[in-house]
Amino acid sequence: MPTPSMEDYLERIYMLIEEKGYARVSDIAEALEVHPSSVTKMVQKLDKSEYLIYERYRGLVLTSKGKKIGKRLVYRHELLEDFMKIIGVNDSHIYQDVEGIEHHLSWDAIDRIGDLVQYFQEQEERVNALRDIQKRNEEE
Ligand code: CO
Repeated sequence: MPTPSMEDYLERIYMLIEEKGYARVSDIAEALEVHPSSVTKMVQKLDKSEYLIYERYRGLVLTSKGKKIGKRLVYRHELLEDFMKIIGVNDSHIYQDVEGIEHHLSWDAIDRIGDLVQYFQEQEERVNALRDIQKRNEEE
């Protein structure tokens, strides 16, 4: 299994490739707000673990293993953002909160949160009922 930091890179690399068709070291560095030399180091580590293939002058491509996990990591991030929105967390906290928790949940927990998100999405009244409770709690 990738470490939390490897996960952050794989998630970002997957997103960059989805958006632009490629992920350069400089793009990754900018997106993650880290020094390009840290990116090079991590990319070499990800290459060693067979998540991607990195060639200095040709850039990098995800292996099928890297694509599979990258896709799951992006899904996990988006699911947790949906979850935060549904439970009523303020938009301005959502990104940081998700970045803080995403690496520390089991895939079992992720799947159960997925069920809960679905539970709320399937019927608008359920979200409204939750908002009523929240209103009541805020008034107390
Ligand atoms: Co994330």
